[in-house]
Amino acid sequence: MPIHIQENTDSAKGDAWRPDTSTSWHPFTQMKELAAMPNVFVERGMGCWLVDIQGRRYLDGCASTWTNVHGHAHPELNAVVEEQLGKIAHSTYLGLAHKPGNRLEHKLVEITPPSLSRVFFSDNGSSSVEIALKLSFQYWQLSGRTGKTNVIAMNEAYHGDTFGAMSVGGSEIFHGRFQHWCFPVTRFPRPSCREVAGEVNEACDTESLEVLSVLLDENADQTAAVILEPWVQGAAGMQLQPKGFLKRVADLCREHGVHLILDEVFTGFGRLGPVLVCTETGVNPDFLCIAKGLTAGYMPLAATLATEEIFEAFLGDFQDLRHFFHGHTFTANPLGAAVSLKSIELLEEMIRTGEYRKRMDFFGQTVQDTFTGHRNVAEVRQRGFACALDLCPSGQSPEPFSPAHRVGMKVCLRARDLGLLLRPIGDTLLLVPPLIINEEEIDFLCSKALQAINDTLSD
Ligand SMILES: Cc1ncc(COP(=O)(O)O)c(C=O)c1O
Repeated sequence: MPIHIQENTDSAKGDAWRPDTSTSWHPFTQMKELAAMPNVFVERGMGCWLVDIQGRRYLDGCASTWTNVHGHAHPELNAVVEEQLGKIAHSTYLGLAHKPGNRLEHKLVEITPPSLSRVFFSDNGSSSVEIALKLSFQYWQLSGRTGKTNVIAMNEAYHGDTFGAMSVGGSEIFHGRFQHWCFPVTRFPRPSCREVAGEVNEACDTESLEVLSVLLDENADQTAAVILEPWVQGAAGMQLQPKGFLKRVADLCREHGVHLILDEVFTGFGRLGPVLVCTETGVNPDFLCIAKGLTAGYMPLAATLATEEIFEAFLGDFQDLRHFFHGHTFTANPLGAAVSLKSIELLEEMIRTGEYRKRMDFFGQTVQDTFTGHRNVAEVRQRGFACALDLCPSGQSPEPFSPAHRVGMKVCLRARDLGLLLRPIGDTLLLVPPLIINEEEIDFLCSKALQAINDTLSD
């Protein structure tokens, strides 16, 4: 959506404020490197576009860390936030309740699989994972199965940066330094799939399932839960699973009496097509973790859903202390809950009409047409509105670039000059736009990413 940029930005009006980064410390960022490059100060957004304090506009190619669904400053979403703000911005959910929170609980139970009936709110994806793990651990204690303490997680998983989430995460580069303080976890390999023309070979999960099956055969009595990002491991660089993999993992967990925790923090709320992967595939997890797109990228809100059986195990007289000692101050924030309800309504409508599927197919086709076979792209992985491009010195050479060359970052800086904001993971470029992106903007995204690769790697 082309947007009109007002000439009178705050800085142009002579606002006394000037950027001063001497107090800044950004996440996942080498601050020495950032200090040496011009930073972008975002002032406003509209649709898929962000505008900085100088009035330059950029396509938001990472959907503001994979959260944005309906675009920035969406009139209907803004209106519900304003309306809620006129009532109350925040009131605690610790033993008290409010209408937006309660309505959202009911909506979440409606759109998630039949197994899930209870909603525990928090305010970020990592916390939603911590909560699922703690609930699983406590459930087994309360049920007298105190030996069930272990967790099985997948290689290269990413579930967030708090200690429980890091423990189940499998990223050496992100979390290796903190292993000493993490709890031990058993790992099984991720499906090793290569995408050909937008599809992965269904058999690429055979080894993964075999290992999981053996681990469960041998250790089910010691295992509390299996945790999984279904369909796509986002932070591992959009690593794809065959669509049937999830059902087979769920069946193994059920057969062995082990909880299944699904982390749909990234995959949920339309990112891969359906509102939720678990509902789409008919899989009934014991826990579901959601955040990011839950509020369309407007507010920090997350939730962990659980089954009635798990909920009931926590009931008892107060002095039995069976209840769950866990909570966050901004749990079920009413502004977040209100915007989430509206966003889900808009998303369901967008999916129902079929126009979303058409745009998503167009994205998939454009990505394949633009990057498949490019001499500096070793592999294209795409599902829904999530795409990863592994950059390489040349199509013939399987050797990666030296990390010191910062090729992924250089391509993103060039893309920024061209009006496109991307964020790499190492030398993998991630194209993860707001879900509202139209065909013209998809063309812009792919052509500018291509130009940035070509300009950076031309010699
Ligand atoms: C699958 C998955 N789980 C959990 C998280 C952590 O979420 P948050 O950054 O909100 O803590 C992320 C973040 O990218 C994620 O992709």
